[in-house]
Amino acid sequence: MEASLLVIPFVILFLSVRANGDGLKVGFYSQTCPKAEEIINETVAKAVKANPGVPAALIRLHFHDCFVRGCDGSILLDSTADNVAEKDSFVNNLNPVGYDIIDEAKSKLEAKCAGVLSCADIVAYAARDSAYQAGGLFWAVEGGRRDGRTSLAIEPPLNLPCPSFDVNQLTQIFATKNLTQEDMVTLSGAHSIGASHCASFSVDRLYYFNGSGGQDPSMNCHYAVKLKAICTPSASPEAVALLDPFTPTKLDVNYYINLQYNLGLLKSDQALMLDDATSREVKINAKYPTIWRKKFGRAMVKMGAFDVLTGTQGEIRKKCRFRN
Ligand code: HEM
Ligand SMILES: *[C@@H]1O[C@H](CO)[C@@H](O)[C@H](O)[C@H]1NC(C)=O
Ligand SMILES: *[C@@H]1O[C@H](CO)[C@@H](O)[C@H](O)[C@H]1NC(C)=O
Ligand SMILES: *[C@@H]1O[C@H](CO)[C@@H](O)[C@H](O)[C@H]1NC(C)=O
Repeated sequence: MEASLLVIPFVILFLSVRANGDGLKVGFYSQTCPKAEEIINETVAKAVKANPGVPAALIRLHFHDCFVRGCDGSILLDSTADNVAEKDSFVNNLNPVGYDIIDEAKSKLEAKCAGVLSCADIVAYAARDSAYQAGGLFWAVEGGRRDGRTSLAIEPPLNLPCPSFDVNQLTQIFATKNLTQEDMVTLSGAHSIGASHCASFSVDRLYYFNGSGGQDPSMNCHYAVKLKAICTPSASPEAVALLDPFTPTKLDVNYYINLQYNLGLLKSDQALMLDDATSREVKINAKYPTIWRKKFGRAMVKMGAFDVLTGTQGEIRKKCRFRN
C-alpha cells in the first residue's frame, strides 16, 4: 500500500516528462559534437544550391516524421523483406528527395563523432536550416531525440491530414498531436514552397467538386485554367503544380496572400478562408510577416517535441535507413 502510494507520483512525473519532450534542449550536442549543427547546415546549404526543391522536401520530412510515432526518424527507415516502411507508404512515396541529404549529413557526423547524433535530430536541424535557406527564417532547435525502431506503411495515412480536409478535420488531427488550430494555420505556411502532384488536388478542385462534375467555385477561374492544363485527365502521375505559383522557392507569407485571392492549391489550403477563426489568422499572417516568421519557428519547435523518445529510449542509429 505504502509502496504504491510512493510509486504513483513517480509514474505520473515520468509520463509527463516523456510526453512533453522534456529532455530535449537547445545546444544538446555542444559538448559531445560541437560541430554537429554546422555540419548539417553546410550539407543542407550545398544540397539547396544543387536543387532549390530541397527545403520543401526536408521541411515536409520533419512534419511527416513527427506526426507518425513522434519525431523518431521512423520515416527514414527502409522497408525490409518482411516490412513495408513509412517511406514506401502511398502518402510518402511520391517524393524521394531528402533521404540522401540526411544520409550524407549522418555519414559526415559519424566520421566526426560516431554514435552521437540521432537521425531524428538531424531531420529537425535540417528542417530549420532549410527554412533559413528558403526564407531566412531561424529558430533554436532542441536536440536530444532518439531513434525509433518501428516504421509501418499503414501509419502515415492514419496520422497525416488529407488534402480534402475541412477546417474542423484539420483542427482535430492537429489536436491529436498537441497542436492548436493557430499552430495548424501557422504551419500551413510551409505550403509557400514546394509542389503537389495532381492527384492530391485535381479531383477535389478541378473536376469533381463536391461530388459534381465541376470546378471548385472557391478557386480563381484563371488559376483553374492553368492547373487544368497541367493536370489534364491523361496527365502523367508525375505531373506537379506549385503550391505557391508566384514565389515557389521562397518561404514567405505569400501563401496567405494567395488564399485571400482564391489562389490556394489544395482544398485544405483554401479551406482556411472558409472559417472565421482561421481566415482571421490568414489575414494577420499575410499582413505581418515578422509575426508569422516567429510563430512558424515556435510551432516547428512544438511540433518537434511531440511524443519524442529521449534519455535511454530508442537508440542512436548508425545508419538512418536501418535500425542497429
Ligand atoms: C494542414 C494540413 C496539411 C495537409 C492536408 C498537407 C498536404 C500536403 C499535400 C497533399 C502535399 C503535396 C503532396 C504531393 O502530392 O506531392 C503537401 C506538400 C507539402 N507540404 Fe503539406 N500538408 C499539410 C500541412 C503541412 C505542414 C504542417 C508542413 C510543414 C510544416 C507541410 C509542408 C509541406 C511542404 C513543404 C510540401 C511541398 C513538398 C515538396 O515540394 O517536396 N505541410 N502537403
Ligand atoms: C499533450 O498535451 C497534454 C496536455 O498538455 C499532455 O498531458 C500530454 O502529455 C501531451 N502529449 C504529448 C505526447 O506531448
Ligand atoms: C547556416 O549557414 C548560414 C550560411 O550559409 C548561416 O548564415 C547560418 O547562420 C547558419 N545556421 C546555423 C544554425 O549555423
Ligand atoms: C456540397 O454538397 C452538399 C450536399 O449535396 C451541400 O449541402 C453543400 O452545401 C455543398 N457545398 C458547397 C460548398 O457547395
